This record gives sequence, C-alpha cells and structure tokens, in this order.
Amino acid sequence: MTALISSPVGPLAGAAAVPGDKSISHRALILGALAVGETRIAGLLASDDVLATAAAVKALGAQAEQGDNGDWRVYGRGVGGLAEPQGVLDMGNSGTAARLLTGVVATHPFTATFAGDKSLSERPMERVMTPLRQMGARFTTRSGGRLPITVTGAPSPVPIAYEMPVASAQVKSAVLLAGLNTPGRTTVIEPRPTRDHTERMLGHFGAEVTIVEKAGGKEITLTGQPELTGAEVTVPGDISSAAFPLVAALLVPDSKVTLTGVGVNPSRSGLIETLKEMGAAIGIGNQRFEGGEPVADLTVESSGLKGITVCGARAPAMIDEYPVLAVAAACAHGVTRLEGLGELRVKESDRLDAIVRGLTAAGVEATATDDALTVKGGGGPPPGGARIEARLDHRIAMAFLVLGMVAETPVEIDDGTTIDTSFPGFADLMNGLGANMEEAPKR
Ligand code: S3P
Repeated sequence: MTALISSPVGPLAGAAAVPGDKSISHRALILGALAVGETRIAGLLASDDVLATAAAVKALGAQAEQGDNGDWRVYGRGVGGLAEPQGVLDMGNSGTAARLLTGVVATHPFTATFAGDKSLSERPMERVMTPLRQMGARFTTRSGGRLPITVTGAPSPVPIAYEMPVASAQVKSAVLLAGLNTPGRTTVIEPRPTRDHTERMLGHFGAEVTIVEKAGGKEITLTGQPELTGAEVTVPGDISSAAFPLVAALLVPDSKVTLTGVGVNPSRSGLIETLKEMGAAIGIGNQRFEGGEPVADLTVESSGLKGITVCGARAPAMIDEYPVLAVAAACAHGVTRLEGLGELRVKESDRLDAIVRGLTAAGVEATATDDALTVKGGGGPPPGGARIEARLDHRIAMAFLVLGMVAETPVEIDDGTTIDTSFPGFADLMNGLGANMEEAPKR
C-alpha cells in the first residue's frame, strides 16, 4: 500500500493524452485470441486489469505480446479453439476480465477456474451464470455465487434469447462471447443501452451482428460460429480516465486543459452531457473515427457549476464516472441528485457508500438511499482535510485525489497502488497539468 496526498493547487494548463480505453483493450485481446491470424492493437491499456486478460488468453492457448513499437500482437486460435488452462486464471481486480472470459469459456468443452482479489471476490457472478447455464455451461462457486468460480463449458452449446434484468455491458458481452462458439443465433435484449464496444468489435473482426432498437434499449443478435479474422485495432483514450483531469480542470479556477484522442462513443459519454447541463465549458474538437470508435479532443475551461438532477436512464452511459461527478457536485452551487445508481453498490467497492463516507469526511453534506445519491454543493472549495480509504477501488482513489486539488486543505488516500488497475501514471499526468500529488508521509 502506498498512501498518496493531493494538495490544493492553482490553475491547471496544458494538453495530455490519457491511456487507452480499458473496456476496448479487454475486448481486443479476447477477440484477437478467438480470431484466426494476427491481430495488431495500437494504444492498448497496459494496466493491471488488462494485463490479467492478456495473461488469461495466453493461458488459454493464444499468443499475446507487446512489440518493440509498443503495439500488441495477438495470434488467435479461432472460434472454439481455445485450450484448457493448466492453472487458476487470476483476474486480479477486474470484473470485466472475469465476466467476459467466463462467457468465452462457457462454450468451450473444458474446465477453468477464475479467482480474483478481495474486491473481485465479493462481486456478483450470478448475473452471468444465469444465462450461461441456459446455454449449457456448469459452475461451482463460493457461497453467494462469488469467485473463485469453476466453469465447465458446454460440450454442445445451445443459443438463447436473453432479456437482461440489469443494464450491464459485462453480462451482454459474456452472452455474446459465449454465442460465438454456439450454433444458431444468440440474442441479448438490454433494458437500457449499455456500452456497445463488443458489438462494434465483433463486426470489425467479421462476425454478423444485427441490432434492433427497442423501447428504451436494444436487441442484439449474433450469428454463431463465424470465422473471425485477425484485425487492426486502435484503442482510443479512455473517457473514464479523462473524467478525472476533466473535472479537475473545471473546478480549479482559471484552468484550461486539452485532453487529446478521447473516445466519445455515445454509450460512454454521459458525463460530458451531464457536466454541460451543470454549466461546464467543454469543447469537443477534431472529431474522427479510429478503429470503428468515435474519438475527439476535449478542451475544458474552469466553469461555475450548478446542481442538477440526473435520472437513471443516463446511468449506463456514465456508470464509472459517478465518483468524480460527486466531487464536481460537491463544488457546485446547490443540490445535485443522481438517480438509478443501484449498480454502484456492486462495483469494485460499494461506491455509493464510499462516496458518501468520503465526502462526509471531507466536510461535504451527502446522503444515499438504496440507489440514489444527493450531494449538497457549497459553490466553492469544500473543506477537505480527510484521509479516505480507497477500498481496492481505483475510481474512489482518483476521485478523492481530485477533491484534494480543489479543497481548502489536502486530501489523502490510504492506497494509491489500486490506481494501476486502470490508469497507470495517473499522478504524473495530473502533476504535469499542475496538480500536486505525492506519496504521503508515513504515519
Ligand atoms: C464494463 C462495463 C461496466 C463498467 C466496467 C466496464 C465493460 O460494468 O462499470 O468498468 O467493459 O463492459 P457493467 O456492464 O457491469 O455495468
């Protein structure tokens, strides 16, 4: 554990490129492992979470390595061609790795065991096991359907049409990935649109995917047993990582920061919309497509924000951004109410609880119900001066370090190492823009 302290700072300035998108990086490695031939991935996020997926696809028989120019190359085994791993697959902190790879293994005729860290071992896996059992997979788990779990893949998988009870891209992706080695058509119906990187990338690798808009959500159908062909993937900057310097630049007076090459897929960009409604000055320039994903440069200038209500329909498009949005809300004028947040209770930590406790410790009035968060903004710097437990949750750690930048007194987090799961180099990038984050003196 390395404690970090973030102190109040003056204007932020400059340009930065945040690391590659975590969701897209996992998917590029997995589809590369299921394709025939070479997949080249530029801009892969080399974070602990994604490296867990890279190690797992290697243990399942694919080749994956980083070349001298930084690009990754994956040599896949073809759909249905993965092999039984010798050891336990360690997913570290990553729910995406655990759930997506469970989907992959569910329709391969062998047995694999997935384990993870303390945080991941508390997170629900039943949500993926329910549809995957219907496809023919079998599972043994720890109590409560938690990791470690052992998956025995279906020898003769059956296609399903599955209506998801939760709006989860991880569940959708697990079923679609299982559908790859399943004859016939596999359909997922989502109650609300969730991030669509899996569908986009399946198409990019040569699979047939059809999408029908439904009231509220979408119906996604994959034709099974395609021949996937190795592809070139360019991974855009992660909007969920860009969220931290973006909010910091909004809140620190007289700042102007440009974040280059950020993925602005509409199924991910709910934070931009929300912050604009709060009064944020965010310019979206140089829009282009890279590897089938929309990308732009975001220019952010400090802005006075006002409290608003955000309804649950927007939650899937900004599900990972609530910790840092809560920090913005703490500095806004008036009350912000964020609804439809039940899923935050089962992220890397119980994020609703972590946000409320952290903000309260920093002198901000915040309350939560089962699935909603209310933050009373003071219209200026919050008191700060707190030591926050990161709870093995990178986004809680980074959000409270941003709070330290804009508070009256520094904010400390007990463990900064968790940040490497999604944003290696976070403190350096932030300090390059004018932040003051460093290792905290030993207690
Ligand atoms: C992810 C989906 C989201 C998100 C997670 C990454 C993905 O989870 O919170 O960080 O890559 O599919 P859910 O789909 O379970 O909400």
